Amino acid sequence: MTATVRTRVAIVGAGPAGLLLSHLLAGSGIESIVIDQRSREEIETTIRAGILEQGTVEVLASSGASDRVLTAAHRHEGIELRFAGDGHRIDFAALVDRAVYLYPQHEALKDLITARLAAGQDLRFGVTAQRVEGAETDRPAVIATDADGQALTIEAEFVVGADGSRSVARAAVSGSRNGYFREYPFAWFGILCEAPPSAEELIYSNSPDGFALISQRSDTVQRMYFQCDPEVDPDSFSQEQLWDELQKRVPGTTLKEGPIFQRDVLRFRSFVAHELLKGRVALIGDAAHTVPPTGAKGMNLAVADVLVLEKALRALLLEDDHRLLEAFPETALHRIWKAQHFSWWMTSMLHVAPEASDFDRLRQLGELRSVVESEAGRRFLAEAYTGWPLEGLQ
Ligand code: PHB
Repeated sequence: MTATVRTRVAIVGAGPAGLLLSHLLAGSGIESIVIDQRSREEIETTIRAGILEQGTVEVLASSGASDRVLTAAHRHEGIELRFAGDGHRIDFAALVDRAVYLYPQHEALKDLITARLAAGQDLRFGVTAQRVEGAETDRPAVIATDADGQALTIEAEFVVGADGSRSVARAAVSGSRNGYFREYPFAWFGILCEAPPSAEELIYSNSPDGFALISQRSDTVQRMYFQCDPEVDPDSFSQEQLWDELQKRVPGTTLKEGPIFQRDVLRFRSFVAHELLKGRVALIGDAAHTVPPTGAKGMNLAVADVLVLEKALRALLLEDDHRLLEAFPETALHRIWKAQHFSWWMTSMLHVAPEASDFDRLRQLGELRSVVESEAGRRFLAEAYTGWPLEGLQ
């Protein structure tokens, strides 16, 4: 038995991209169904990155997707770049009159899920998409299995793949051609600990022992990362060893230590799908692209994709105007490749590759000095980090 449901837009994936898109479409009177193979609890508790661009915060707040972001997020007006024994502040407020906000992604997801359910949205957890069919027809469909193992077909006027880096929907758009891809010879070891903040702002530190990032979560919980081998077993370190690894990568700052209660290894990839659109199926968020976390661009880029696609879907579904949809890949890719470059640049400037020669190390210090000693260099970093202007927001 296959149950068939109909909607205007079928969205695969209840991450930031899928949920925000459905929220914005509802605001324009366009009905959608969102499915995700994960449970609500898994989505709301998985630890992800925590930096939102100012524009992302403005979108979440002004669309009614999150009120909490205005009260609970911490405004950061700068970051510190640390290398060769010194810290250098990049003053976002002075350089570009903008800021970023520390607000963990799963908190934004909780807000979005609450908002969608409060609005009576058809949001289904535990539903696994098998494939997307009919991209080049007027009736594309998602073929799925629901939480009880029953076959489910969602027929729609448009299908959106917002189903993350292991996207199922991608096959309907890019076919067997996958995407532009780059892997890095290192990963991040991430920890959450119970301790007061070690610094008021984020510290991105380049040291001869490798990179570390000192981030925060609250007055009592901190998030930190250090560069590690991608194959490392997260359980192979004692707490003491973890603190030693972190501390030796941030000379000049004494880290405030405390019990480490969560640890994970994050692999680094840069990826852009060859195609973002085929007929009536589009890809957004991590399904379309992945960035290494150094530039804090992942969720912000997903939000930027959503704004471009939502406008195009409004024109298509309310006015039968296809032009913005046809322009969607080019418009979205413009920002995607800038963010790819920024994420790659921050990554390569701050990490020590295992095969790095003395020349590479010294050249890297020269690059860091070129950035921090020039107002143009600091401004370039500040513009990219706080986020380029967003579609429809100024
Ligand atoms: C985080 O707090 O998890 C975080 C912050 C900045 C990044 C990446 C991750 O660039």
